[in-house]
Amino acid sequence: MELHKVRIVQKLHLVPIERRLEALYEGGFNTFRLSTKDVFLDMLTDSGTNAMSDNQLAAMMQGDDAYAGSQSFYRLEKAVQDVLGKKYLLPVHQGRAAENIIALAYVKKGSLVPMNYHFTTAMAHITDKGGQIVELLYDEAYVVNSDHPFKGNMNIEKLEEVIKRHSAANIPFIRMEASTNLIGGQPFSVQNLRDVRAIADKYGIRIVLDCSLLGENAYLVLKREEEFKNSDMATVLKTMTGLADLCYFSARKISSSRGGGMCTDRLEIMKELEALVPLYEGFLTYGGISIREIEAMAVGLYETLDETMICQSPNFIKYLVDSLDAKGVPMIKPAGVLGAHVDAMQVCAHIPQTEYPAGALASALFLISGIRGMERGSISNQRDEEGNETYADMELLRLAVPRRVFTLSQIKYVEDRMHWLYDNRELIGGLKFVYEPPVLRFFMGGLEPTSDWPQKLMAKFKADFGESL
Ligand code: F0G
Repeated sequence: MELHKVRIVQKLHLVPIERRLEALYEGGFNTFRLSTKDVFLDMLTDSGTNAMSDNQLAAMMQGDDAYAGSQSFYRLEKAVQDVLGKKYLLPVHQGRAAENIIALAYVKKGSLVPMNYHFTTAMAHITDKGGQIVELLYDEAYVVNSDHPFKGNMNIEKLEEVIKRHSAANIPFIRMEASTNLIGGQPFSVQNLRDVRAIADKYGIRIVLDCSLLGENAYLVLKREEEFKNSDMATVLKTMTGLADLCYFSARKISSSRGGGMCTDRLEIMKELEALVPLYEGFLTYGGISIREIEAMAVGLYETLDETMICQSPNFIKYLVDSLDAKGVPMIKPAGVLGAHVDAMQVCAHIPQTEYPAGALASALFLISGIRGMERGSISNQRDEEGNETYADMELLRLAVPRRVFTLSQIKYVEDRMHWLYDNRELIGGLKFVYEPPVLRFFMGGLEPTSDWPQKLMAKFKADFGESL
């Protein structure tokens, strides 16, 4: 149950299904392009949508507005030292800004960046600078119905093979992503990160750790990794960051605020990145972030250590995954973090990947419920260097559960509507692009249904639920 009380509320609106159908056509069957006035439960992302605490809001009032040398920055720097255990902090406006700066500093044409799995913006910044990525997960990571506790683990044998084949000189860093986003919010173990460290040391390669979802990864380490079962969040977090040369994060996630940052103990790395921050972000004591958000970030980082806060979203996700799984809906298991992930490849087995089953499922769920999820499949993939479509390993509908935003009864509504949609899945049809932007196409791309399936789905919904919803 909820381990907090609600003190400020925001009214929700459930517009009729006819309006939701119009909204889908207006937004090109892309849930990023919906307006929140048409959305009932917004499960698009946890980015910048986690609920802030009373202490975060209070801290925002104490912002020390100054272009340079703000006390708010020093409070944040102290929080980073205390929670992430790194000495130097370079603030940036959000996570992808750190990815841009790290890629600018280290990636060049011919570079190869091994990673457990890509994240959309991380990959786009690396390929933008002429580099390439290689994903090195174990096979279990792609098994939908699994009980493997650490599907985000890096494949150590393949990592060494790749380094030998491409030579360490062409590998500027190894990227490890906490709670591997695109395969269903799946964690890696501390032991796995230690194994990556051993290889990195052997070949003299840096480790860059994407800490955006590090709090949740640490929470699952406490729950799932034998060595840490009597440990605490502070120890696990510092153990993980201590194994990386450079950490970066989206504060929109890790500290339930806005902003981002890069941190390291190594002076030479700090110096290599430092010059780029004023050029692209802002002065070194604000990095493009509002001072008030910097205060919220500092408090939010400390709150990441609080198990009663950090457990909330993973527990609701587990409830949603397990209850839908019990009803036969194919879900990514075990339940991960960030959100519940529905396996669109199975739910929409009748829709070929060329017609984007995960995008179609996201549109269908919005139509019949007002719930806005996010496509994490082939639409979110980028084309290869020759411009060919690349199909995703997994076609997922992500239903994000931002921290402390939804009540359990709202989660039960999601369960109920997703279950109905599963029973009526044959009515869902495919999508095709009508407008495809060249970079990060999933954000603003426009699609249309390949037939009148949305109208048929709406008719069935009205037959079952009546006119009012
Ligand atoms: N790394 C990870 C693992 C992320 O999940 C994100 C953002 C970023 C980096 C980029 O950070 O958005 O602050 O620029 N993920 C969001 C999501 C967008 O919805 O999963 P950002």
